[in-house]
Amino acid sequence: SKQQDETMGYTSERNLVSSNQLESTQKKLSIEDFVMLNQLGKGAFGKVFKVKKKDNCKIYALKAMNKKQIFDSNLEQNAVIEKEVLNNNKHPFIVNLKYSFQSQTKLYFVLEYIDGGEFYQILQRTQGLPEPVVQFVAAEVILALEYLNMKLNIIYRDLKPENLLLTKSGHVKLTDFGLATKRKENNQKSYTLVGTTEYLAPEIIRKEGHSFEVDLWTLGILIYEMITGKTPFAHPERNQNKIQYLILKNNPIYPPTMSRDAKDLINSLLQTNPQLRLGANGYDSIKNHSYFSKINWQDLYEQKVKSPL
Ligand code: ADE
Repeated sequence: SKQQDETMGYTSERNLVSSNQLESTQKKLSIEDFVMLNQLGKGAFGKVFKVKKKDNCKIYALKAMNKKQIFDSNLEQNAVIEKEVLNNNKHPFIVNLKYSFQSQTKLYFVLEYIDGGEFYQILQRTQGLPEPVVQFVAAEVILALEYLNMKLNIIYRDLKPENLLLTKSGHVKLTDFGLATKRKENNQKSYTLVGTTEYLAPEIIRKEGHSFEVDLWTLGILIYEMITGKTPFAHPERNQNKIQYLILKNNPIYPPTMSRDAKDLINSLLQTNPQLRLGANGYDSIKNHSYFSKINWQDLYEQKVKSPL
């Protein structure tokens, strides 16, 4: 009911609808405007479907989220942030929001459909990727994170292979902002335990409060995983407590085959003290690391670099 919507905080309906420049010029969409094709994925608050918009016959990814579920986990702010990120986003390596609408019970995001598959499937098929591929994927992810952390003041908090989609031409698109949060003034800290265990930064586990430097930690985990095929603090039985213990101990094993540059880069990102992480004083220190000496950052941003994928 309407009453229920009000109590569920979709007063944030105001934020969710009026700030949307896309919608102001067109009539409100509903689920009836789309043909459901198949399910693409499943997130914490709902599912993603491949859909066809009836009037233009174009294919999109429709993310449907349950309002009550979002509200019950006190993450309604996150839905607003997700919308805000997607709406403001004009970044080549972040999924674009095309439309959004809601029903009594659900929020819907209509996203551009990314047709090159999921990066984690490529990673799963291998025991680690060749260095030029890792450098390329990591570099595109770095530009996306820099944009979120520094331009939009958003902490992403959920970097992992499952959230990296690939375009047909093999470029990276970061998706799923369900766990993103706003960076506070003066880089003040957030305290919620969110993320995927193997990727959690130590300050999140210790509940010491965290800020954008958690994205630098997870970048280190991602690069390690792309090189070796495994995360550094994985545990065979997937025991959550054991994984957390290994993260806090922070003694990753670098295989002898790993290049010196890669080891040095990962080691600088996997610093327990967030302030000491490479990138804590800006992303230039990451971009200038010798591991990325072959990357032309401007060309990469302009998508002039051919994907090795
Ligand atoms: N899975 C999740 N989001 C997607 C998108 N935007 N395109 C294709 N597959 C997806």
